[in-house]
Amino acid sequence: MTILSVRRVSKRFGGLQAVSDLSFDVARGSIKALIGPNGAGKTTLFNLISGFLPPDSGEIYFGGAPVHDLPSHQIASRGMVRTFQHIRLFPKMTVLENIMVGRHVHSRAGFLAGMLNLPFTWREERRIREKGQEIMELLGIAEHAHTEAASLAYGQQRVVEIGRALACEPRLLLLDEPAAGLNMRETIGMGGLIGKIRDMGITVLLVEHDMSLVMGISDEIVVLSFGQKIAEDRPLAIQKNREVIRVYLGDDA
Ligand SMILES: Nc1ncnc2c1ncn2[C@@H]1O[C@H](COP(=O)(O)OP(=O)(O)O)[C@@H](O)[C@H]1O
Ligand SMILES: [Mg+2]
Repeated sequence: MTILSVRRVSKRFGGLQAVSDLSFDVARGSIKALIGPNGAGKTTLFNLISGFLPPDSGEIYFGGAPVHDLPSHQIASRGMVRTFQHIRLFPKMTVLENIMVGRHVHSRAGFLAGMLNLPFTWREERRIREKGQEIMELLGIAEHAHTEAASLAYGQQRVVEIGRALACEPRLLLLDEPAAGLNMRETIGMGGLIGKIRDMGITVLLVEHDMSLVMGISDEIVVLSFGQKIAEDRPLAIQKNREVIRVYLGDDA
């Protein structure tokens, strides 16, 4: 079963074809990785899929429904949630508060009612808090619930970002370079977390440079070069693919 289908999607920035006639599917319950050299178009593709940028052409289907014309918040409320290549936490807020912010995409009461202090929002607030607690425990950061985000180690901040995304209860989670800036031990931990998330039934699409992580956890890999798909296969086959090796190591390989 396919949860995400990207069909012949293109995006141009001035004279630069950042994503070119690109198609691939993501199977429900799987971990799929997008790899490719810097500038290959991976983040742009994430922006197109999650509605942060409109494609010039092509279609994107999420759960069978077209989403290429929808704004990002509507796509998020349908259950596709992303993290960003660069950390976007609220530095002065606590870990729990940062995670609870994510949850508000589903909060019916919303911010206005919250401001007016209506009683039913207290109940909602409590539910959100409990959900936040659950997520922190899953991610192993519960002891930092009331710590200011900015004072956490960088690697833990990346985990909090994933917590905020999980608070939206995604069906599909898009992770843009979750291991960027992490040391080897933290990268292994991140791989474990992503596996855990998949085991919860959440499909994962990730962009990542760390090959040991990608090869270790992915069911399938799409390789981009200059906006085009040059390969799509299982990790072992990708490692042996001549075109992929050439793109990564140069023509001498
Ligand atoms: N908003 C933008 N305006 C102009 N060019 C952009 C924009 N975003 C990305 N690009 C260019 O598109 C290409 C792909 O970028 P990006 O998707 O960030 O690559 P990757 O994430 O694979 O490193 C790069 O050449 C980049 O400079
Ligand atoms: Mg990028």
